Amino acid sequence: MSTHIGAAPGDVAPLVLMPGDPLRARWIAETFLTDARCYTEVRGMYGYTGTWQGHRVSVQGSGMGQPSCAIYATELFREYDVQSIIRVGSCGALTERLAVRDIVIAQAACTDSSMNSIRFEGLDYAPIADFGLLRAASDAAHRSAPDRDDVHVGLIFSGDSFYAARPELTRRMVDFGVLAIEMEASALYTIAAGFGRRALAICTVSDHIVTGEETTAQEREQTFGEMVEIALAAGTSA
Ligand code: HPA
Repeated sequence: MSTHIGAAPGDVAPLVLMPGDPLRARWIAETFLTDARCYTEVRGMYGYTGTWQGHRVSVQGSGMGQPSCAIYATELFREYDVQSIIRVGSCGALTERLAVRDIVIAQAACTDSSMNSIRFEGLDYAPIADFGLLRAASDAAHRSAPDRDDVHVGLIFSGDSFYAARPELTRRMVDFGVLAIEMEASALYTIAAGFGRRALAICTVSDHIVTGEETTAQEREQTFGEMVEIALAAGTSA
């Protein structure tokens, strides 16, 4: 096992879907995978491996925030030879171009985290998604409905503080194309790049920072399910 994942080598599939919430990991495994087996319960951060349409796939909780996500991503890439991680999470909409329940496929992620500024000694690294996964996710989302306007491919912001001291700073970035805020993608993209592996973050809009609208638990589950299907299709085809 690695420091935070109680799996034996070979227990984890080359493709990992990564929700923040470990109970979502269990729900994905039980809902979408056949023959799913739990390979870790360390800290309650569940991980499962099963089969989706003939492909071995794992689902691993990451916890909330970039430091937690970075621990799981690093161990999956370094100790378990994982090739692709697709985050499936939620985000807050920062612009009225988005509505609650929309899906955001994150092309790149800005951040206020110090993780990259320390790693790159103050230089401004630009964390981006793997293009193959990004294109496959967009294709999968548009296959049945080419003209749909509830799926967005673009820039997001990975904030370190859910309860931000100065939220106006994030909103300023909206003028420069940022669509939504979450808390993990920037670190995930950077770590994947450092290992020469692939990463993508797909998020459903759970709350709207501009209008104050929120989704119900039932709506969240439904949109979350569609996002998981997009992630599975993208990860197994790209
Ligand atoms: N901020 C940060 N992360 C989030 C939010 C938010 O408003 N909504 C869902 N994830």
